[in-house]
Amino acid sequence: MRLSIDRERIPTALFGAASLLLAAFPIAFATETLHGDPMRGEQVYGRCRGCHTIDRNRIGPRHAGLIGRKAGSVPDFDYSPAMRRAGAAGLVWNEETLDKFLENPTHFVPGTRMVYAGVKDAQQRADVIAYLEKVGGDAQHAEKASDRPATAGSSKE
Ligand code: HEC
Repeated sequence: MRLSIDRERIPTALFGAASLLLAAFPIAFATETLHGDPMRGEQVYGRCRGCHTIDRNRIGPRHAGLIGRKAGSVPDFDYSPAMRRAGAAGLVWNEETLDKFLENPTHFVPGTRMVYAGVKDAQQRADVIAYLEKVGGDAQHAEKASDRPATAGSSKE
């Protein structure tokens, strides 16, 4: 009798494990690729400007060099522990991860301080990501650019 109960449990346990895996790897469900338009993306970025700019930290971290950057890695920005953990766990910002994050920030990074409902329209997300790619440059360029004014005479960290 015990045996039969245990047998019944097996599928449930498997299912539980599977859904945990699915929850852990949302990126595996990647996205149809939409072609983003940076011009339209600039308009969408208007929704971000209350908290973000490209060059400076405000309520949110600067977006210069966002593409290819580890989550939670702008050195002089005070991130939530959740965002730092996500970066330490390997989250890097690219088209796919930004698409998921911007669709529903608090769902993709539970505990994030970016309390923002997200951009629900997939085309608008593609557009704003294209804008960020265009104006932000890649991580290396942005480091060089932000080195110029910031590090004259100061430490290199
Ligand atoms: C209400 C303020 C607010 C708005 C609006 C907002 N953000 Fe944020 N954003 C934040 C904060 C605060 C963080 C830091 C989150 C953390 O530490 O958990 C953040 C973090 C991010 C990050 C992670 C950056 C990194 O360095 O890891 C990205 C990407 C981002 N925001 C993109 C956007 C985009 C694109 C928009 C507009 C569509 C937007 N945000 C709108 C406040 C905001």
